[in-house]
Amino acid sequence: MSKRSFSLHSPLDMHIHFREGAMLRRVAPLSAETFAGGVIMPNLVPPVDNLDRLERYEREVREAVDGHAFEPYMTLFMRPYTESELASMKDRIIGVKLYPEGVTTHSDGGVGDLRDVERTLALMQDMDIRLMVHGESTDFVMDRESAFLPVYEDLATRFPRLAIVMEHITTREAAALLDRHENLYATVTLQHLMITLDDVAGGLLNPHLFCKPIAKRPEDRDALLALALEAHPKLVFGSDSAPHPVDKKECAGCAAGVFTAPIALQMLVGLFEEHGALDRLQAFVSNNAKRIYGVAPPEKTVVFEKTGAVIPERYGDVIPMYSGRELDWKVAEAR
Ligand code: NCD
Ligand code: ZN
Repeated sequence: MSKRSFSLHSPLDMHIHFREGAMLRRVAPLSAETFAGGVIMPNLVPPVDNLDRLERYEREVREAVDGHAFEPYMTLFMRPYTESELASMKDRIIGVKLYPEGVTTHSDGGVGDLRDVERTLALMQDMDIRLMVHGESTDFVMDRESAFLPVYEDLATRFPRLAIVMEHITTREAAALLDRHENLYATVTLQHLMITLDDVAGGLLNPHLFCKPIAKRPEDRDALLALALEAHPKLVFGSDSAPHPVDKKECAGCAAGVFTAPIALQMLVGLFEEHGALDRLQAFVSNNAKRIYGVAPPEKTVVFEKTGAVIPERYGDVIPMYSGRELDWKVAEAR
């Protein structure tokens, strides 16, 4: 008999864009209702790259999730940092996020030449500060992640004690690196487990599925899904939920980012159930992350029920992935 009810304990989203101001106040509670914690990305304008900005942003995030058992794991935007700067911020962050210059939303101030941050990487390795990477080059769009893989291998080899997270991997080749370097880990999004480029641009263009890195080929999606379904010990869930107002998505010059935060867990339950892997979902959305990042999020139990639900058309001015679609599972309770 198939299950009608399913529970997850302290699910974590290890890659989220919360933004600031009104957008933050809208989207953060939607994550905090069901997730027990998450890694908050630093690509604001200006980026989170100094102690004052970090403290103020953390305070704003905590205010936005007030009333929920949710722990924000803050990050810094990569630039050349001094040892004393890193020392002053180390205890407030879960890692430093490296964006190559210009590859995605708000990455204009990213790293143009990796040699500029060589010293910072060495300091991070010595100070036990994790590196998180948006691993894309500026090559042809479908090849940007593959073209970046030698950089991951080079960093992993030259900084063997630096924990490196390949953020939002989208290719079979990136997945294969996990077993080749002890210090490489990865996050993967919901959309990259479900869709391919065909869903984005194969028929009518769907701006709400357009993100960086772009969804790839069926064999890439299938390799990522296989790894998630087995709850590969070095892979964790990171939604990369990236809200943009509808007028920035449904226009010429559509912003990159898929908004999944409020529906990610329900959809993961459906996806893992469909593949007979529900017993692995707890590891994929929580236990692996707790072990890899050494975090102890607040206790939270989320109960899902198998009764039809419909994904809302919008949350304010943000349209979620698969808006208006029917879901098999809904969140019955989070406590
Ligand atoms: C993200 C955003 O909107 O901030 N967009 C995206 O397409 N994923 C940035 C990022 O993670 O690349
Ligand atoms: Zn992101």
